[in-house]
Amino acid sequence: MKRSEFIRSLGLSTSALMAVYCMGTLTSCTKEDTPAPTNNNNPTTNPITGKVDFTLDLTQTANKELTANGGFLYNGDIIIARVRTGGFIALSKVCTHQGTTVVYQKDTNDIYCPNHGSMFDITGKVTKSPAPAPLKMYQTDYNATTMKLRVFES
Ligand code: FES
Repeated sequence: MKRSEFIRSLGLSTSALMAVYCMGTLTSCTKEDTPAPTNNNNPTTNPITGKVDFTLDLTQTANKELTANGGFLYNGDIIIARVRTGGFIALSKVCTHQGTTVVYQKDTNDIYCPNHGSMFDITGKVTKSPAPAPLKMYQTDYNATTMKLRVFES
């Protein structure tokens, strides 16, 4: 039996054969993904007070995103960004609409939810619905000498 006869005997169409071929080479069929920001998942609360209070060491590789303006990362449920003007912000990363993880956008200097398009300013205030409430904001205190960033709630 010839190869073309064999393929026809399987009952596969040309498009079905191309789909099978593409599945086998899927990595070459997709564009390269943008790397996801780090989520350190370190403890975020003070065990005594129960309030958010942690310190990130920006000399550590895990926190390197915060050494450049526009970088951001997650620690637990908190997004920490070094905004494009160099200051730091820390907000809840949980969108108040349906809980999707938000991202910091360097170009527009705001916070965006990729699920339904809600937007927040860098203080967490809603600037575009459907999010019904602001993102909780935390205090930041950066020591440029030690390169340590404390995130806490008062
Ligand atoms: S979950 Fe964020 S806008 Fe809907």
